Amino acid sequence: MRVLVVGNGGREHALCHALSSSPLLTKLWCAPGNPGIAQLAECLPIGVLDIPELVAFAKANQVDLVLPGPEAPLVAGIVDAMEQAGIMAFGPTAAAAALEGSKTFTKLIADAAGVPTAAWERFDDAQSAIDFVHRRGAPIVIKADGLAAGKGVVVATTEAEAIAAITSFMQDGSLGNAGASVVIEECLIGEEASFFALCDGTTAIPLAAAQDHKRVGDGDTGPNTGGMGAYSPTPAFTDQLQNDVMARFIRPTLVEMARRGTPFRGILFAGLMLTQDGPKLIEYNVRFGDPECQCLMLRLKSDLLAALMAAVDGELAHFDLRWHETAAVAVTMAASGYPANPKRNTVIRGLAAAQAIPDATLFHAGTDLRDGNIIANGGRVLTVCATGPSIAKARDTAYRAVSCIDWPEGFCRSDIAWRALVHA
Ligand code: AMP
Ligand code: GLY
Repeated sequence: MRVLVVGNGGREHALCHALSSSPLLTKLWCAPGNPGIAQLAECLPIGVLDIPELVAFAKANQVDLVLPGPEAPLVAGIVDAMEQAGIMAFGPTAAAAALEGSKTFTKLIADAAGVPTAAWERFDDAQSAIDFVHRRGAPIVIKADGLAAGKGVVVATTEAEAIAAITSFMQDGSLGNAGASVVIEECLIGEEASFFALCDGTTAIPLAAAQDHKRVGDGDTGPNTGGMGAYSPTPAFTDQLQNDVMARFIRPTLVEMARRGTPFRGILFAGLMLTQDGPKLIEYNVRFGDPECQCLMLRLKSDLLAALMAAVDGELAHFDLRWHETAAVAVTMAASGYPANPKRNTVIRGLAAAQAIPDATLFHAGTDLRDGNIIANGGRVLTVCATGPSIAKARDTAYRAVSCIDWPEGFCRSDIAWRALVHA
């Protein structure tokens, strides 16, 4: 099979890594890819949102399957465009990707499907939103309705903070159109988990759970980021919890999406809060998480490509996924100044030494190749991963690999997976 992956992050590097071991694969491209991905795939200078160019390339090169990594092309309709051109693509149509593209849509689906989620209201004008905050008080959560690259959610601990977020989203237009309306939610308390299911429109099969670390600093402090690290499996996410989430969240959501004529195919990523009253939905995403995907791909024993094909063909009812018993830990290395203002164009050395540590795997995210050097060219720059017989061992190996990397302008959290070690 000739496969085209779309994206350039650590997630897409991990997907290319998993696809590379498939006996079904004959040719792999990635658009636009990165220097790490270039070791596994032919990289194409086409942006993730340049859908007409991607379609033209796929047609001209007899691509059998397109695998978009990030949400933006999915929400923009890459799967619809590929299908119209007769090319198979794994992921939701634009209509189904609204589960990530619109917070309001997610809440409406959750309510219609009986999925437990935070109490919420939607507002189109700032004054009503502010009045609501005054009535409800803090803590309270303000969410821009549209896609905002991780910048659209404020968990406000005071009313003033909530009102500042409303003003910034709705009146100052800080997120453009994405913030024109907001969803205001009850603040949920508990431990978070990311759960992933592979869906073919009718059937869903569980992938695995992982836990992400969203805050930039040790001890879960500082601003939110795209994800500073992850680990899988998650001790807090028991088999019983997985069955419960499949039965009360994932399957009813698929039924409701199909009933509306927009069946969901692809990866359904449930962001969950494990509250005292049981799991509650924080949000849906319609793709793999980054860096959760890096952990999942290192634990997946089954052929990823065969699994994706079964989903595209509507054959998941007859499919089974197997996992390695090992644990996986992913540590994000980011450029200093991330998330507000990451420093670019700094040289990274020691990658080969890190990769040489047994059981360690390095995925590139925001890197570039310049004059033979790997340089940082983004916020999250590398995902340093390791597998092991336990989370503790995998984590030790990952940090051993981190210590091989010579990059004074980079940093990482030093406490990835701390929750798992507390549970142990
Ligand atoms: P998002 O940018 O949509 O991934 O959300 C960012 C983070 O905001 C989530 O990972 C949670 O930590 C937090 N969050 C979102 N909604 C709620 C809620 N209703 N209660 C508490 N925390 C929330
Ligand atoms: N790591 C969270 C996400 O990919 O949205």
